[in-house]
Amino acid sequence: MGGVPRDAPASRSSHSGRPSGLIGKQIAGYRVESEIGRGGMAVVYRAKDLRLDRTVALKLLAPELARNDTFRQRFTHESRVAAAIEHPHIVPVFEAGETDGVLYIAMRYVPGLDLRHLLDRSGPLPVGTALRIAAQVASALDAAHDHGLVHRDVKPGNILVAKGTDSDHPEHVYLTDFGLTKKSLSLTGFTSVGQFVGTLDYVAPEQISGRPVDGRCDVYSLACVVHETMAGGPPFQRDDDMALLWAHQYDQPPRLTEKRPGSPGALDGVLAKALAKSPDERYGSCLEFVAALRAAVTGSAQGHPPTQVDLQVVGAPVDPGAPPDPPRWARPVFRRLPE
Ligand SMILES: Nc1ncnc2c1ncn2[C@@H]1O[C@H](COP(=O)(O)OP(=O)(O)O)[C@@H](O)[C@H]1O
Ligand SMILES: [Mg+2]
Repeated sequence: MGGVPRDAPASRSSHSGRPSGLIGKQIAGYRVESEIGRGGMAVVYRAKDLRLDRTVALKLLAPELARNDTFRQRFTHESRVAAAIEHPHIVPVFEAGETDGVLYIAMRYVPGLDLRHLLDRSGPLPVGTALRIAAQVASALDAAHDHGLVHRDVKPGNILVAKGTDSDHPEHVYLTDFGLTKKSLSLTGFTSVGQFVGTLDYVAPEQISGRPVDGRCDVYSLACVVHETMAGGPPFQRDDDMALLWAHQYDQPPRLTEKRPGSPGALDGVLAKALAKSPDERYGSCLEFVAALRAAVTGSAQGHPPTQVDLQVVGAPVDPGAPPDPPRWARPVFRRLPE
């Protein structure tokens, strides 16, 4: 475990260090234009779909992993999962396949930065921005959970932040990287190769101990991400991996208000609940968690009347005459009650 590699540095630009021999080459009808990022097992390029003359993101399994069956399966699995969930905050997959021994996924190109890069560049985000990002990731995760899937690798490097449509929606966020996604309640742990390639900053206690995981492990990881977007660093920071794993399992998370003085005090309780060691003590969904975050912020600012989601979180009755709810992903995260 001590040898678990850390995430590659955030890299939607010129991370690679070694020049990629693929620039200008053609792969399965796509012309590779430039490298835009790399993660634990893949390199993502901007490429041109020559048939449709459109720009795509072309994700290729790293050649050194292409002969490893576990990684091949993980990569193929990713394209299937991502294609199965149609959602405004999940990148649409156009095509996946293998050509000359190269496994690829072609998907929508998302211009912008991933959240890792954004945080490295700008430091902690304004609370409003952090909440908007969290809400969009939460809706994607809850949609995955509704499909009986658990993402298991929620972290800033897997959250793409593009420009939004207007000043009410300044950013549009996509959750990516479904390579570790599993059926809910599957057993997990350090036994499956490649599972913890990457950072341990966001991993839930039950993932570490190999207990069954469900959507609430994503609630935990999302809470680590939210903590980082507001505080500038993840909740647990230790000198080595063992200490970090221990902290996730046994240590109290630090209070946000200590790291970011002046932030609404009620956020501490909400984050503590989402970071509970036992999944039973966390919020039941990502959306509930985000609604509680929002209530903590608006409550302390003497904000607007509670939304339907706020009311559901506190268990208050919602208007019985209200029209039936649309599918969860289609609902605005924060819906105002009729006046
Ligand atoms: N659709 C996309 N559009 C633009 N950039 C992307 C896209 N998908 C991934 N990236 C970039 O590539 C990086 C690695 O992609 P990711 O799916 O997380 O790979 P890995 O499975 O290797 O971690 C991301 O952090 C992001 O910066
Ligand atoms: Mg990744």
